[in-house]
Amino acid sequence: MSGAGPRARPPARSLSGPTRAALVALGLLASAAVRAAEAPAVAQACLACHGDALAEGAPPIAGHSSNYIQLQLVFFRAGRRKNEIMQGVAEGLSDNDIRALGKYFASLPFPDPPPPADTQPDLTRAGATAALQHRCAACHGDAYLGIQAAPRVARLPEAYLAKALGDYRANARPSSGGAAMTEVAGSLSDADIKALAHYLAVLP
Ligand code: HEC
Ligand code: HEC
Repeated sequence: MSGAGPRARPPARSLSGPTRAALVALGLLASAAVRAAEAPAVAQACLACHGDALAEGAPPIAGHSSNYIQLQLVFFRAGRRKNEIMQGVAEGLSDNDIRALGKYFASLPFPDPPPPADTQPDLTRAGATAALQHRCAACHGDAYLGIQAAPRVARLPEAYLAKALGDYRANARPSSGGAAMTEVAGSLSDADIKALAHYLAVLP
């Protein structure tokens, strides 16, 4: 696995439904067929939880950098990132599978439905304040779409974000990038985590 490279690809918005079908029919949108890396057979098994519909508390993985995806799979396989489901999945993966999966899912656009309606604007403001205080954007980017080793965190599921921050704080999850997240999360309170997860999940 090589070091984390810069992510040059602009954030992709996914087209859906009739628009997409029409463009594909016209041959104007060759995305899936040409731009995406070829799906390795082992990727089929991932879609039950990481497909168009998310299940079991799984986050979307399409659109993360290949390095980030590979690293997380290696962490799960080694038992360094704790999650019963993913440790079971990763146990069966070879290094070649992991490389192919990273490349494939990184080549797909991030599924980007409109952000959920914000029913807790006070919590959003508290999250924005905490994010400034802890300089989250310095690593994740002003729009939280990720820079180098720091992945996209904008509009991930709120419960997943809260769990991720809690896991870093509890040392149940290692952090690449010079232990960046372990250090950051160490100083977060429960209230910070709740507010930050909400803020990032509803980012416009
Ligand atoms: C039965 C459901 C399930 C299946 C099948 C599954 N996953 Fe997961 N995956 C999860 C859950 C749940 C998490 C969140 C774990 C956590 O909270 O730490 C996750 C997390 C991940 C992450 C980390 C995402 C991040 O943002 O850090 C990656 C990468 C991943 N899975 C890849 C895969 C790949 C590749 C496959 C297929 C080989 C796969 N998963 C199959 C449920 C699943
Ligand atoms: C010094 C750089 C740095 C700072 C500051 C930082 N992060 Fe991170 N963040 C990272 C890196 C690097 C990763 C990937 C770590 C890994 O390999 O698990 C990460 C991962 C994450 C993840 C996991 C995403 C996923 O898909 O599982 C979340 C959530 C997150 N950061 C939120 C935050 C929040 C909220 C803040 C501010 C309180 C913050 N980060 C501040 C560098 C940083």
